[in-house]
Amino acid sequence: MMLPRTVALFAVAALAFVGLSLAPGRARAQQLAMPEKAQQCLGCHGEKGVPVDKLIPVIAGQHQGYLYLMLRDFKLGLRKNEIMNAMAAEMTRDEMMAIAEWFSKQPWPNLNQPRASEADTKRSELAIVAGQCGACHGAQGMGDGTNPRIAGQWQEYLLLTLTEFRSRARKNNPWMSDILNTLQPEDMPALANYMAGR
Ligand code: HEC
Ligand code: HEC
Repeated sequence: MMLPRTVALFAVAALAFVGLSLAPGRARAQQLAMPEKAQQCLGCHGEKGVPVDKLIPVIAGQHQGYLYLMLRDFKLGLRKNEIMNAMAAEMTRDEMMAIAEWFSKQPWPNLNQPRASEADTKRSELAIVAGQCGACHGAQGMGDGTNPRIAGQWQEYLLLTLTEFRSRARKNNPWMSDILNTLQPEDMPALANYMAGR
């Protein structure tokens, strides 16, 4: 008869379904476990992902690869910032990976920044083509892996870090500095306004 066979197939299918539905449940539970040291970050980078100060970057929802690299660069002193150098100095590689993973899984906050003016948008679109920003940061500025998301970041932080790359005060990625030095100084505020408002 066909019946036992059908029942058996159904049982296998049901088991597979249970297996599938359990797996994401476990993964979610793991995502929610906040690494102990991440608690120290929330005072500045924001309990709900919104940093308390516009010169402090959003890290909630930023890519894990980029976050890890920045913590490593701060620890090694390749990127200079007194606070962050001190924070990262205390962390092991595994702690940095776990913290980077946890923040990468939090939602990116909507900072509700205004869209750039028409003049800034025009200037930015030309600069983005000239500097081929999309090749690494993606057409929408969303980044991937070790290329940071820049869309929707604080305007104030973007302007600061673009200016510091350009002057080579931020020296942990000379390539970014070289690219920005092919552009005009006036492109920096236009780009910051444009990316913040996306
Ligand atoms: C006292 C405030 C403060 C605390 C606490 C703090 N940060 Fe920061 N963080 C900053 C500031 C300010 C910057 C911007 C540095 C600069 O000027 O380039 C920054 C930058 C960063 C960046 C670079 C982001 C980017 O877009 O380039 C990462 C990653 C980061 N912090 C992670 C952390 C983590 C993880 C912790 C907790 C272990 C932490 N921070 C704790 C203030 C803080
Ligand atoms: C060849 C790939 C590449 C290109 C092209 C490129 N970037 Fe980047 N950009 C990066 C990488 C990688 C980083 C991370 C640098 C680091 O290691 O600190 C970065 C960092 C940045 C940051 C800092 C983000 C943060 O959170 O601190 C900004 C802002 C930025 N880029 C804007 C631009 C703009 C605007 C352009 C075009 C004019 C551009 N980039 C072109 C690869 C690129």
